[in-house]
Amino acid sequence: MKKWKQSVAAVFCMVMVVIVAVHAEGYGKKEKKKLGILLVAFGSTIPEAQVSFENIDREVKASFSKIPVRWAYTSHMIRKKLARSGKHLDSPEVALAKMLDEGFTHVAVQSLHTIGGYEFHDLRRTVHQFQYPGGFKHIMLGFPLLSSQESMQRAGDAILANIPKDRKQNEGVVYMGHGTHHPSNAFYAALMFQVQRKDPNIFIGCVEGYPEINEIMAMLKEKNITKVFLMPFMSVAGNHARNDMAGDSEDSWKSILTKAGIESVPILKGTAEYDNMVAIWADHLGTVLDQL
Ligand code: CO
Repeated sequence: MKKWKQSVAAVFCMVMVVIVAVHAEGYGKKEKKKLGILLVAFGSTIPEAQVSFENIDREVKASFSKIPVRWAYTSHMIRKKLARSGKHLDSPEVALAKMLDEGFTHVAVQSLHTIGGYEFHDLRRTVHQFQYPGGFKHIMLGFPLLSSQESMQRAGDAILANIPKDRKQNEGVVYMGHGTHHPSNAFYAALMFQVQRKDPNIFIGCVEGYPEINEIMAMLKEKNITKVFLMPFMSVAGNHARNDMAGDSEDSWKSILTKAGIESVPILKGTAEYDNMVAIWADHLGTVLDQL
């Protein structure tokens, strides 16, 4: 190729690059950045459990004032039940579609789950699907409560700080986590291991996963513990906490432990009622907002 032809080709390429850049810039200017937050919880139908969501809502709005906050529940069953009593809550899909319609361009979705189980991974897929041409410019998902070694450490410290003040050292504290068939179930035992390095009489079991209550009871017996405080390790003190943990039916944790001669004092307060726990979720949201 002759030299002048090469020069013409080079100039042509440069002009094209400039045209594309100018076009992209112009397009970007037309669409102003509109940032929003979507908080996604499993949900609860128990009215007393709403304090947890109210606390998260308050904390998030205080930490990130000026950014509009929307809510969604992942549980279809809970949304259906609430709808029957006239309370409407969106699924993450509907909430995001509405935000898109409202002109949001950048969205930070924050999972309010405890571990990254099925619900979290479903949410991850949903978030991904909203990043199509014509969808959000940028959408990101924040990690659940337990997700890194640092968050495990913080959650462990919060557990230690939140145990009842009148609890004596030889008394146990038994937390009820939810549990799952998902591999992330391992977080519960991992957290218990770390907490027990600081206070050997704190236990974390699961209502629907490992370690089950029988496992926890065996540990209590080994340590000759005769009195425990029962606390939910779930964001809300909902159905599981009120019935499976503190209920009077034969198979509740309170009944099982009482039958085994272990006095149990239930405390119906979800983890999201404690500011030191909410701060962990809020910081995960902050990390996402920094990257948007
Ligand atoms: Co459940």
